[in-house]
Amino acid sequence: MKAYNYFNKRNISKNYLNLYSKKKNFNQYPANDLRLKIVLSILNKNKPKKILDAGCGSGMPLIIIKKKGFDISGYDKSSNMVKEAKKNLKKHNLNENLIFCNDFENPKKIKRNYYDCILGLGAFYYSKNIFKTLNKQTQILRKNGKIIFSLRNKLFNISTFNNYTKIFFKELFNEDRLIGKEKLLLKKILRNFDLRNKKKNIDDVGVFSTSHNPLNIDDELLKKVGLKKENIYFYHYHYLPPYFENMSKKKFYLNSLKIENPNDWRGNFLASGFILECKKK
Ligand SMILES: C[S@@+](CC[C@H](N)C(=O)[O-])C[C@H]1O[C@@H](n2cnc3c(N)ncnc32)[C@H](O)[C@@H]1O
Repeated sequence: MKAYNYFNKRNISKNYLNLYSKKKNFNQYPANDLRLKIVLSILNKNKPKKILDAGCGSGMPLIIIKKKGFDISGYDKSSNMVKEAKKNLKKHNLNENLIFCNDFENPKKIKRNYYDCILGLGAFYYSKNIFKTLNKQTQILRKNGKIIFSLRNKLFNISTFNNYTKIFFKELFNEDRLIGKEKLLLKKILRNFDLRNKKKNIDDVGVFSTSHNPLNIDDELLKKVGLKKENIYFYHYHYLPPYFENMSKKKFYLNSLKIENPNDWRGNFLASGFILECKKK
């Protein structure tokens, strides 16, 4: 399923704003808030003039950024998300036209070489072809402009000890090329990675997305689309494999929050997401 169709469902678009609720809910890790905090610190450091938020959802990061004094507009492909975002803008006494419908995989009628900064928060990894999406964004950015976007961390699959781990190691050891006893033994070892978390996520409903390896992101992605990495930041840490969340959500939440550190090497394995701060070359 394409992500914008999933996010266009009424129950999803109506409730998306709850992710930014200030009420503490141990069932809902504050991953979006952590991501936004990192983004705000990058924006405060760089003070870009014109910002465009691609895949802005129901508008919450955009409104917070706007209220900090930045010049920001945004778009989303899900019409119900845009509807919610416009309501939300109105509630905050902001112009509804700051958010409109568009497609980051194929943006139409957006000025080229114009924006100082593009944001893509929880967004670009839903593209069918992320290279094409990022190429389109670089066309919109002015020279030396910034793009700040998040990706799903492929290396996190090592420490989930579940089906994602199996797939990771099957690929790493090139399982398809093994035969006989070697293949059998690897299969037997990987059978142990079978922990299942009760909590369903967006993958369980078949939404297409990709994940990326933070260790080779320059060569595998950024250089190919004319971007230079300036910084990488990790967020949404898991102090133990996600299965342990079944034992106590509160303990899992609090202990994971304690180890959040955007610049810790452990983020390569314990954080499910990372943010890239890049410059158009
Ligand atoms: C996980 S939400 C993130 C929303 C917001 N950026 C945030 O940080 O809270 C992903 C959003 O991307 C939008 N989206 C997915 N594919 C898109 C596309 N091709 N063009 C524009 N928006 C898209 C979805 O509709 C959804 O609102």
